[in-house]
Amino acid sequence: MPMSYGFQRRLFPILKEIAAYYKTPFHIYDESGIRETGDRLKSVFSQIKGFREYFAVKALPNPRILEIMKTMGFGFDCSSIPELMLSRRIGAGGEELMFTSNNTSREEFLFAEADGSCILNLDDITLISKVPKLPELICFRYNPGPRRTGNDIIGNPSEAKYGVSHDQIVEAYRKVKELGVRRFGLHTMLASNERNHSYMLQTAKMIIELAEHIGRQLNIRFEFVNIGGGLGIPYKPEDAPLDLETMAKAITQYFREFESKNSYVPKLYMESGRYMTGPHGALVTTAINRKDIYRSYIGVDACMSSLMRPGMYGAYHHISVLGKENQPKNTVADVVGSLCENNDKFAIQRELPEIADGDILIIHDTGAHGHAMGFNYNGKLRPKELLLRTDGSVELIRREETPEDYFATLNFARDVMKPNRKG
Ligand SMILES: Cc1ncc(COP(=O)(O)O)c(C=O)c1O
Repeated sequence: MPMSYGFQRRLFPILKEIAAYYKTPFHIYDESGIRETGDRLKSVFSQIKGFREYFAVKALPNPRILEIMKTMGFGFDCSSIPELMLSRRIGAGGEELMFTSNNTSREEFLFAEADGSCILNLDDITLISKVPKLPELICFRYNPGPRRTGNDIIGNPSEAKYGVSHDQIVEAYRKVKELGVRRFGLHTMLASNERNHSYMLQTAKMIIELAEHIGRQLNIRFEFVNIGGGLGIPYKPEDAPLDLETMAKAITQYFREFESKNSYVPKLYMESGRYMTGPHGALVTTAINRKDIYRSYIGVDACMSSLMRPGMYGAYHHISVLGKENQPKNTVADVVGSLCENNDKFAIQRELPEIADGDILIIHDTGAHGHAMGFNYNGKLRPKELLLRTDGSVELIRREETPEDYFATLNFARDVMKPNRKG
């Protein structure tokens, strides 16, 4: 079931008042739900010593959310300088931070290494010589190529730009070992939004076997293996949820077997974004227009600048209409924003109750890769973000963008460079 009943129960009775106070559109996140999921993750992996979730900051890069993650003992997986800055701003540092970049620039390495450092997760063997100062702990992202399949969001491993290939992975660790690195991690991330626990199990098995293989070849021990993010959530009502308990039980068993064969065991890290926050967020928007031409269109006051997933991947997000949850769904319509792009649609040919202007629509499961992916095409501005706190109060955790923000990077005064043509 999309969007937990708990979140609906907490949100729907107070939503009209919240919408009247803050004005739509906005994303709202459920602190209780995020904490419940975090606690559940820790509990299912409690038998693996040193289990740690590194929350994928890209999913929901807001300091209040990161603070919640930090209170649960989580680290942060960052993919850019601003994400590292954000994580450091809330007090995370050192090995609480993982820097998983790709096509990494020197500037990014320099920044990552400054200020008490972070765990460097290298995406390619050639980057070894480009890290300004090799730290004592290095991790590589492994790409198994044709040995595994991926999925639509992240692509097939053999076509994906990420990671070190199978043929290069032992060599990569050999090189850094020769250069004095003494602590090692191993990482992979193959699929996104995967609800099939056996796929995730194959990934965990693959990575732990690889750690064993590399360890034996080079006589090194891995401090951790990181199985990435990618745990899926049920966006559609008929979607079965990921069987987290079964998955964790089997992974725990792999770790036990590793320990009995190798007389040590790495820690298990993961970097879920969607699983941690996806179902605990919703985009709240108001119906402002209805248009009946060849199809019926419900126009709302949010657009793709708030949520790209449907336009970008054809992703499904369930929609409730406040106060009409139990009414018959006798309208079939596209729910659209105001962008001059025909894929600016939150739903296509969706069965919905009769919708009037002024009705509040709740677009479910926008807590990950939602606001964060928004953009400013067509001069459209991103909406505010709210947090429904555990005590039932609501906090503004990001204001909406204004035209001043849109104008902030523009030069109205001329700033001209004249190339010297002589050379
Ligand atoms: C390297 C890396 N880690 C973690 C994640 C988080 O993925 P998810 O939100 O599907 O768990 C992503 C998502 O793109 C990623 O690229």
